[in-house]
Amino acid sequence: MAFPPSFIDELVARNPIEDVVGQYVNLRRSGANLFGLCPFHGEKTASFSVAPDKGIYYCFGCHKGGGVINFQMEIEGLSYPDAVRALAKRAGMTVPEDEQYESRYHQQERLWALCKEAARFFHRQLSAPAGAEGLAYARKRGMTKAILTQFGIGFAPNSYDALLKAMKQKGYTEEELLAADLVSKSRNPEKSGHVYDRFRNRLMFPIIDVRGNVIGFGGRVMDDSTPKYLNSSETLIFNKRKNLFALNLAKKSKLGYLILVEGYMDAIALHQYGFDCAVASLGTALTEDGASLLSRYTEQVVLIYDGDQAGQNATKRAIPILEKAGLQVKVLQMRDAKDPDEFLKKFGADRFRLLLEESSNRIEYQLNAIRKKYDLGEDDQRVKFLQESAELIGTLGSAVQREVYGGRVAEAAKISPDAMKLEVDRARKRLQYQQKKKQETIDLAPARALQPKSRTIRYDNMKSAMAEESVIAQVLREPALLDQAGELKEDMFSSGLLGRVYAQLRQRHEMGLEVSAAVLTDLSGDEMSHITGILQRNQEPVSEQAFQDCIRTIRAEHQAAGVSTEEDLLAFRNQLKERKGLRS
Ligand code: UTP
Ligand code: MN
Repeated sequence: MAFPPSFIDELVARNPIEDVVGQYVNLRRSGANLFGLCPFHGEKTASFSVAPDKGIYYCFGCHKGGGVINFQMEIEGLSYPDAVRALAKRAGMTVPEDEQYESRYHQQERLWALCKEAARFFHRQLSAPAGAEGLAYARKRGMTKAILTQFGIGFAPNSYDALLKAMKQKGYTEEELLAADLVSKSRNPEKSGHVYDRFRNRLMFPIIDVRGNVIGFGGRVMDDSTPKYLNSSETLIFNKRKNLFALNLAKKSKLGYLILVEGYMDAIALHQYGFDCAVASLGTALTEDGASLLSRYTEQVVLIYDGDQAGQNATKRAIPILEKAGLQVKVLQMRDAKDPDEFLKKFGADRFRLLLEESSNRIEYQLNAIRKKYDLGEDDQRVKFLQESAELIGTLGSAVQREVYGGRVAEAAKISPDAMKLEVDRARKRLQYQQKKKQETIDLAPARALQPKSRTIRYDNMKSAMAEESVIAQVLREPALLDQAGELKEDMFSSGLLGRVYAQLRQRHEMGLEVSAAVLTDLSGDEMSHITGILQRNQEPVSEQAFQDCIRTIRAEHQAAGVSTEEDLLAFRNQLKERKGLRS
């Protein structure tokens, strides 16, 4: 444990979870708990709960959960030590110095400062003789002086040590330059250990996070050589999936929505032409992290990917990811140009605004895509068009929407709206049937259904894991049970995660410290959510008998060290349910 446990206890006690969460979420009391709209996923009904007595929060929608420290980490995107710092500050406490933390945080601060210096260096080159070619290229691409300044665009000279020398002069070491991925180490054995500038002869785009730190770079060649863009690799301060290019600027936009594009140049051109709400993914496909980041700043996203097949495919993949994050999605189909940058430069902002107004919601977009596949002059193709459209419309939850879109399709295919409605209803029934079947399959495969929701956590021995979950839940409700845990040791746990949690709780109990979910340390967000979920699922009163049964099961499974059969598992699960008096 990096911070003394007693310090963490005081920190948690001095930062009541309802107060800290209350800064971000409008909470209403209902019984012992408080409820509000989940800040981690978009929703219209409150499934986000806070339990002040347990010191935890849990969302029944997205299954995120944890104590006050976790909340601070998740909501502000902070590391554990940084969240502790923030909460300490809030409560007016001083943080005991911790060398390891100090050095890591210090290292991050050095890298932020270094990247900012590097960005300044690159930007200066644009107006220096060494950067004349870069400036000419930027101008040829239509970038104005103002936009070059606003984005801090720069130029990496055609040299192996220009940046290296400049940064060394500012007091940065080769190790730090390597850690920021600004230089590379030579692979040539004769020059082993020799480092050289990674970005050379490229137009440089600094990547800036929402807090304003320069965290990486993208660099474009000025001809047709490859790679066209060279990007910083992931470093201590740069995570591609969790950042979006230009979000630092777009988050301040007054337009009320965000535009998501594929390329740096597209985002920059949009800003230049007045669409200051544009952001771009960082050379990767949109991820859940990216979508969740977007959802912190807007409710509506307009997707504008390139008009080619790759762009269409990426659009198809991005839609469900964005919708899952609670975002409303509109799609602008690029035409007459390959990307927004080219379009704006060819036709200007007004024409683009027209395209934007025409951009359709995702159903319209998908219906259009289906429409394009078929020739409605041919009867058999018309039938296929109707069927495929009905499948899509059948997925819509709202009857009004089904009627509106069904009506449009009917009109296009020249059939009556009633006939279309029949087709949609049939498709919907089929869909509901399939979903029911799927659910049944899941219910009948307990081993799978009981696996943790998070994909990063897996149980190897389900029978033991269920008993382990029960032990953790009971101990958290009644720490005194730990006095009766006897020989139950961390290494008997089949789940590494649950074993670690047990060890922490036991150690705390032995030291006479607080035993609660809120004070657990060294867990990832997913792991913490999982533990909170276990607490939510195991609300039954604690029983000594059940507790001892669980311990026996864990010991027996540990000794057998075998994986239980499905049959064992079902029997065990029923036993547990009976004991807890649960409905089956
Ligand atoms: P594009 O090839 O569409 O480039 O790649 P672009 O943005 O239109 O750039 P220009 O107009 O040719 O200058 C889209 C995005 O994919 C990533 C970059 O983020 C780029 O902006 N990419 C592309 C790379 O990371 N590396 C590459 O070599 C190519
Ligand atoms: Mn382009």
